[in-house]
Amino acid sequence: MKAPIGIFDSGYGGLSVLEKIRETLPQYDYLYLGDNARSPYGSRSFELVYAFTLESVRALFDMGCHLVVLACNTASAKALRSIQQRDLPHMGAHKRVLGVIRPTVEALGSISESGHVGIFGTEGTILSGSYELEISKFFPELIVSAEACPMWVPLVENNEINNIGADYFVQQHVHNIMNKDPLIDTIILACTHYPLLIHNILKFTAPQVRLMSQGSYVAESLKNYLQRHPEIAYNCSEQGSCTYLTTGSASKFSAMASLFLRQEIEAEHIDTLNYL
Ligand code: DGL
Repeated sequence: MKAPIGIFDSGYGGLSVLEKIRETLPQYDYLYLGDNARSPYGSRSFELVYAFTLESVRALFDMGCHLVVLACNTASAKALRSIQQRDLPHMGAHKRVLGVIRPTVEALGSISESGHVGIFGTEGTILSGSYELEISKFFPELIVSAEACPMWVPLVENNEINNIGADYFVQQHVHNIMNKDPLIDTIILACTHYPLLIHNILKFTAPQVRLMSQGSYVAESLKNYLQRHPEIAYNCSEQGSCTYLTTGSASKFSAMASLFLRQEIEAEHIDTLNYL
């Protein structure tokens, strides 16, 4: 049976990807799941990120989805490969899970002029080395510096982005990465929460530094994927709707998502704990 495309993130960050996907592919239905009850994932162990992500993917498959996008770099870095190799073969022939790291890296080469790039991500994403690995496959000539920003996701999740303390934590990491390599002209926002902090980050970056938000690259890559896989596209329902689910408080999610997406959102609470 046809079903919505599942979009998963630990919390609100995936909304920045969902927004771009809906602009690019407005015809499809979407089921967004934020694991807000257990967010942030960024400093959690490999085992926990894998377990939480697998539960959430199972929940989305159980609700009918055939295709799930992990709109979360931490989950893409720490769980995607294991889910694709270990779990998907037992989950049904037409079930697919995609991540955000490869689509972002594929777009990178045409953007940097200096050949020096930076990566802002969660501790988990940065320590995994996933970006460096992907970049070395596609663009081995690029010089990469990475910076973990563990305070940034809590700023977004707690809606502190417009409060005075936020800039302190943003400035710290912008300075750190530019000290690592002053020639950086492109920085990947390798966490789907970070586009929500873009105005804070822009206050401290030099004009020649471009910030690369992932949403539009992930959206283009999904469009391309569905064109290349008509059998998967066939399973995706097309009413243009979006349903929002959270493992946390539905009213809090509704308020925050409405703020981030600049439109009224009504979220529902679900429990994923039975899906491990
Ligand atoms: N937004 C996610 C990412 O892209 C996860 C952040 C977190 O939960 O720490 O990495």
